[in-house]
Amino acid sequence: MKRTVIIDALKRTDFGADVNIKGWVRTRRGNKNVSFIALNDGSTIHNIQIVVDNEKFGDDFLKPITTGACISVTGKLVESMGKGQAVEIQAEQIEIYGTADPETYPLQKKGHSMEFLREIAHLRPRTNTFGAVYRIRHNMSIAIHKYFHEHGFYYFHTPLITASDCEGAGQMFQVTTLDLKNPPRNEAGDIDYTQDFFGKQSNLTVSGQLEGELAATGLGAIYTFGPTFRAENSNTPRHLAEFWMIEPEVAFADLEDLMVLEEDFIKYLVQWALDNCRDDLEFLNNMVDKGLIERLQQVVATDFVRLPYTEGIRILEEAVSKGRKFEFPVYWGCDLASEHERYLVEEHFGRPVIMIDYPKEIKAFYMKQNADGKTVQGTDVLFPQIGEIIGGSVREENYDKLMARIEELHIPMKDMWWYLDTRRYGTCPHAGFGMGLERLLLFVTGMANIRDVIPFPRTPNNADF
Ligand code: 4AD
Ligand code: MG
Repeated sequence: MKRTVIIDALKRTDFGADVNIKGWVRTRRGNKNVSFIALNDGSTIHNIQIVVDNEKFGDDFLKPITTGACISVTGKLVESMGKGQAVEIQAEQIEIYGTADPETYPLQKKGHSMEFLREIAHLRPRTNTFGAVYRIRHNMSIAIHKYFHEHGFYYFHTPLITASDCEGAGQMFQVTTLDLKNPPRNEAGDIDYTQDFFGKQSNLTVSGQLEGELAATGLGAIYTFGPTFRAENSNTPRHLAEFWMIEPEVAFADLEDLMVLEEDFIKYLVQWALDNCRDDLEFLNNMVDKGLIERLQQVVATDFVRLPYTEGIRILEEAVSKGRKFEFPVYWGCDLASEHERYLVEEHFGRPVIMIDYPKEIKAFYMKQNADGKTVQGTDVLFPQIGEIIGGSVREENYDKLMARIEELHIPMKDMWWYLDTRRYGTCPHAGFGMGLERLLLFVTGMANIRDVIPFPRTPNNADF
């Protein structure tokens, strides 16, 4: 008989029909005469209840059907008498695919800590919480493609291996096939990368932006969506060494267009989650974060604040003068820490903030320089609980100004000639941003640690599974 997935079975009303359900046992309880098996197949957060006549199957047969076992059940779909479910299955045949010895199967009880579950990330998909998170992750990925496709952006694939450092922060993982024990050396005694696989030193990308700009200045509007790598040694609940970034880039867009796009994009995604992930959000709202759904609804309904950096610093300095304590100092020119960002968003404004016009010293070389000579048209979108969820900017399209900045920062020209060609030939105003998928997911799921919104987190000292 053809299998019915549980999400579909739970919606059926053709009681009396024969159905086949397959899944993993969440719990088995009951009495001498009857067993109730809660079965889940990952299609939904909800289990389906299997009602088993113990005598019909025999205790010896039923004994190994414990938490974690995988079974196939054929039986009648019936209206449920019990609370909390509309339908259940009266088992007629059960096939056991795999047992899970209760002595060793790690997912016995409910309420394991997130830390413990990280150590068994290979089994996390079988828990309610991670089932919900991964379904939402899927939904957000689909919605991202849908948003851009509907708005005339082309999905553009940028390389994961590159020789340039887009953000200029030097946080790159090197890619090499050289013998690390005995690398070739040149006359100066330095490692001779001309003998490396690509004939030069190369790394995993920290951003697809530079290549994205090449595409936007031909295709008009593009986006990238792929893995990004940063060797920043920051063990925080918001940083990963491998994360997924979405980077739209738009020709002829100015700062206003950029902010409109950032706000519209996030609101679309949050609304998508509210419309399409309701059951999973309700579960997370109950189990993980009681304020979750309300926060999501608020974000969709409110206008984001637009705040020049200089004004943000003034607000923070005022708070400090009134006795508000921060761990890191606040002054014009400082790179805002997450505590500062969250103060502005959560305490001062009570809604998301798009901060603009940052000091050029704390931002990347490619950002468009303002006439004041001090600030650049960078935008960070700051969110409650998270801090920075998006980083973007208008790009400096003027060849001379961009060159001057590249020289000031001693960025090696040999890596940049192709990027500069966009400014040399048919340059145009353009802008774009990057959003970390996992930062978005922290917000949408209410999970507290970024390691719990990606299936297999890569962080310092951790590359298991
Ligand atoms: O602000 P960032 O560094 O900006 C860029 O990389 C630009 N090239 C983007 C662009 O304009 N096309 O990173 C963008 C976003 C951040 O706002 C954050 O959401 C996420 O990427 N991000 C990280 N997420 C998880 N772990 C990390 N280590 C992250 N670093 C950045
Ligand atoms: Mg940033």
